[in-house]
Formats: sequence, structure tokens, C-alpha cells
Amino acid sequence: MGQDTPTPPARPAINIEQPIGRHASGNRAEQAAKAVAKKAVAKKAVAKKAVAKKASTKAVAKKTAKAVTKKSAAKTNAAAKKAVKKASKAAAKKATKKPAAKKAKASKDKKISGYGMGKVDVVMSVDQVGKEAAKIAKEGPTLKALDQLAKNDAFLTIEDLCAGYGKMQILHNFSLKIGKGQSLCLIGPNGAGKSTVLHSIFGFTNIFSGKISVGDKDVTALTPSQKLANAGIAYILQDKSVFPGMTVEENLMMGGFLKNKPTEAKAAAEMVFDKYSRLAERRDKPAGVLSGGERRLLEISRALVMEPDVLLVDEPSIGLEPRFIDMVFEILHDLQHRDGKTIVMVEQNAKKGLEFADIGYVLVSGETALADNGDKLLKNPEVGRLFLGG
Ligand SMILES: Nc1ncnc2c1ncn2[C@@H]1O[C@H](COP(=O)(O)OP(=O)(O)OP(=O)(O)O)[C@@H](O)[C@H]1O
Ligand SMILES: [Mg+2]
Repeated sequence: MGQDTPTPPARPAINIEQPIGRHASGNRAEQAAKAVAKKAVAKKAVAKKAVAKKASTKAVAKKTAKAVTKKSAAKTNAAAKKAVKKASKAAAKKATKKPAAKKAKASKDKKISGYGMGKVDVVMSVDQVGKEAAKIAKEGPTLKALDQLAKNDAFLTIEDLCAGYGKMQILHNFSLKIGKGQSLCLIGPNGAGKSTVLHSIFGFTNIFSGKISVGDKDVTALTPSQKLANAGIAYILQDKSVFPGMTVEENLMMGGFLKNKPTEAKAAAEMVFDKYSRLAERRDKPAGVLSGGERRLLEISRALVMEPDVLLVDEPSIGLEPRFIDMVFEILHDLQHRDGKTIVMVEQNAKKGLEFADIGYVLVSGETALADNGDKLLKNPEVGRLFLGG
């Protein structure tokens, strides 16, 4: 489990994501702001250049006019002035013509789209995505529709959940249903409450009302360690939760700290090594030397040591290069289809997440705006515009 799992806080008052790096929202907003600032600076520079050009052309024109006046006594002052005016007018026209033409071309090419992983020229602001997403929410899906997506045989169920941090409510009558061995992906704007759904399932939030059950067990009030040990729910944190100074094997064994006997944890760890040779080959190395993909694999494997039924995965692809992203999704695919795990994930890379998951939910302001099969949501034009970058 994550850094906080060894001594999991029952009800943390602080944002448990902050210490382990919430770069999803921060970076995107920061990058967008940087891009806007860069553009503004570039625009200013072009304008400055135009003014300078105008001034120098004006000076040349003035000089020429002066020479002309000197040479020909017949030419009047007024004529010289006229020449200056004409020359500077022409220069100004020339100077402004280029940027204007450029601007027209840029606006023709300009494509406004959401903040998914597509090729975006202009990124919609986080606020704008939130507002637009709220528009498509209208009325959320019915419970019947959620049941159908879970093939009318839900294993993990959230009913009318109102939950948050301290007194602040983030989730409003949120419901979720997923069948055993299915996968579900939550997408939505930053701050929509996606991680809060996972926190609530695992027992990190204040639950004001509603119910969470796994199989026929009511797990609403269980602590995180009870969830892990007694209800078979494991939580893979957003990122950076390996202990870099400890070996791969020690990190893996940490996942089994709630096992009754150390021998059980050892046996479960060996099963993981049998499965993933990449980790077995590096079992005595400090986890700090692993690549990003291998680290993610270690984080996932550490959760597997507890042999859970339900895996909660927050941002599996965060901070990874494309080849590692594919590797992580392949592992999750195996866990679902080969080992029958039930997977609830949050994924900023909406395309990857929806391609992977059987079910997709679009979360907006703590409520479900849309719910459908992953592939159907992928084809939904509004989802495409807001979350897939095109
Ligand atoms: N521990 C906490 N204490 C107080 N407020 C919190 C805490 N964790 C999250 N929040 C707030 O809850 C709201 C939902 O946050 P959450 O992390 O669930 O969003 P998210 O959809 O996962 O966003 P992101 O895409 O940025 O990860 C935000 O307004 C956030 O500031
Ligand atoms: Mg989150």
C-alpha cells in the first residue's frame, strides 16, 4: 500500500494526496497559464517590433524628405510633410500587415478543445471544462441504468453517498455499481471528487450519509485497515508511494503488514515475484533505482500481496512515459481478466481509461453527470470535446 498505509489515518483532516504529489491538476493548470503568458509575451514582442519598424521607417522617410527639400528649392515644406506622412503611413501599414495576417491564420487554425491527451492547440481552462461539463450533466443516470451497466449483479455498491472532509461535503448523493470482475473508470474535471470517491470506499473521508457495500457486507464504517484485511479492498495511491531506500522485496512485504502471519506475506510476495520477473530480477535492489513503470508495477504488486478482491487505483498512468503507461494497463488488464479482480480507477488520461474500462462515469462537482459503457462514452461527442482533446 501507500506511504500512509502502514499507519493509516482513520479520518485525516488534511489532504492525503498533497504529500505524495498532486501534479495532475497543478501541472495542467500551471502549463496552461505558462502557455498563455508565453503567448502574451510573444505578442508584445511582435507589437514592439512593429512600433520600432514604424519609427525607423518614419525617420528614413523624414531624412529623405529633408534631402529632397534641400536639393530642390522649388519643393515646399508642405510637400515634404506630405512625403513624411505618406511614407510613415505606408510603413505602418507594412508593419501591421504581417502580424494581422499571422493572427488571421492562427485563428483559422485554432482548435479549442478539452484537456485530454489529444493534440490541442488551445487548452480550455479548468474552470471552463467544469462549466461545460456541468451543462451536459442535466440529470444524472438512473439507478436502474447503473445496475444495468453492472449487469444487474453489483459486487461493490455505493448508494446515495454524501461524504467529504471535515464538515465540507464533496460527494452529493453519489451512487456507483460495479459487478465482480468488472472495471470502472471515473473521469471528470480537476476537483470533481474522483479521488474522493476512492477515499470514501477505502475509509479516508467523513461519511455523512449513504452506504457502501462489498458483496453482502456493509463496509461503510470500516477503517482502512479493516477494509484491507477484512473486506478485500486495496487502494493504490496516486503516485510516489514506494520507499526508495528499501529494497523491492521489503517494499513488497510492506503490503502484507496486515497479514496474520509473516509467512503468509512472504508466500504472497513470492507469488508476485513468480508473476513479474521484472521485479524478481530486482528484488534486492533499492526501489529508488527502479524506472517509473517498474515503480508503478511495484505499487500495484504491493497491493496484491493482500490478495484483495477490489483494487482502487488512482491515476495509474500519472507521470509515466507512453511505453510504461501501456505496461501498467496491460498489468491491470491481466489482474481483471486473468485474476478476476474488480477494478475501480480514476484516470486523467480519459482515452486510456475509457478504452480499458467496462464502465465509465463522468463526475462533475461530486455528482455523476454521465455513466455508460467505456467504449460508448469514448464515442460521446461531448466527452470527446471536453475530456479527449478533440
Ligand atoms: N483531505 C482533504 N481535505 C479537504 N479538502 C479536500 C481533501 N482532499 C480533497 N479535497 C477537496 O475535495 C475536492 C475534490 O477533490 P478530489 O481530490 O476528489 O478531486 P479529483 O476529481 O480527484 O481532482 P484531480 O483530478 O485534481 O485529482 C477538491 O475541492 C479538493 O480541494
Ligand atoms: Mg484526484
